[in-house]
Amino acid sequence: MPDRYEEALGRIAQKIRKKAEMAARDAMIPYRSAEGKWIGNPYDGNSWWTGGFWPGLMWQLWHLTGDAFFLEEARRVGELLTDEFRTFRRLNHDVGFMYLLSVGAEAKLTGDEQAETDLLHAASLLMGRFNPAGFIRAWNEPERVGFAIIDCMMNLTLLYRASRDTGDPRFRQVAKIHADTTMREFLREDGSVSHIIEFDPETGKRVREHPGQGYALGTQWSRGQAWGLYGFALAYRHLKDPKYLETAKKIAGNFITHIRPDGLTDCDFMQPEGEERIDNIAGAIAACGLQELANLTGDETWKQAAERLTDGLLDHCADWGESRCGILTHCTASYHDDGAGRHTNILYGDYFLTEALMRLCGKDPELWS
Ligand code: GLY
Repeated sequence: MPDRYEEALGRIAQKIRKKAEMAARDAMIPYRSAEGKWIGNPYDGNSWWTGGFWPGLMWQLWHLTGDAFFLEEARRVGELLTDEFRTFRRLNHDVGFMYLLSVGAEAKLTGDEQAETDLLHAASLLMGRFNPAGFIRAWNEPERVGFAIIDCMMNLTLLYRASRDTGDPRFRQVAKIHADTTMREFLREDGSVSHIIEFDPETGKRVREHPGQGYALGTQWSRGQAWGLYGFALAYRHLKDPKYLETAKKIAGNFITHIRPDGLTDCDFMQPEGEERIDNIAGAIAACGLQELANLTGDETWKQAAERLTDGLLDHCADWGESRCGILTHCTASYHDDGAGRHTNILYGDYFLTEALMRLCGKDPELWS
């Protein structure tokens, strides 16, 4: 239904254009919205991992409309994020999310040289987190020195791109080692993936799985499934090894069996029956990953699943009202911790919904390539 998707994109551009003026005026980075206001990052100030999604959305909408307001707003926040290089200690493996969608998008869409330099700076920070025992370290707390998480599969794009842009294979080689470890240690027989695995930082030996943002240890946190799906599809796109494609297909196959009849996505695929916890961010990310898979394989089945998810979001959870700021409702940051938002609008849901629609309309600027 391309007309429907075109129309939705137009409505997103229109609403966000108005509401973004508030963010610019208040000199902040929207993380979520409530009661007619944007709300900033819940933790870690501008180093919080989600800071790239607002400029990413601005770059998408600039690409769509050519409206210079979006360009200026994307650059405003890109500068706030590169200021965080000085703080440094609060940055973690999520520099991929933060900088690919800000300075990475700027370098790609405008050819700006400083933005490209900033992108390579971020890639070097991610490289600096590599433990030669076989994984990229996720977070900074001393007690988590051996932790790696599934989400990092998305951050690897920073490394693929740095190798391509500099001609230096080290970035790609590190990405490959991390992807291989993730494939070996996170992927389960049924096509689901773990969220957090702890390794011995000296030997790289698996220590244990930890519960993360899902329901419980060993369950299927849906956003983690979506990061794995999209992340392995991108690994295949960039590293060309068919084992990554097979992994992405396996994760996608499992994800699809759990799409709800209304097209929405539960927060955890193994959550107790009758306990209503939806995370539409997971559905929006998966809709992008499934389209990547369709492009890589030529198999339209994946695209049809992406359409089911996108239709579910548009049918039930797109808020076009003027009284509130964001678009996508029923986003949940974490199953048990409501501090970062539960069943509310969260900005990275809006980013991925927009990306899914841009892809469906053939207008995606390919910020992950
Ligand atoms: N990358 C953290 C999350 O998905 O919540």
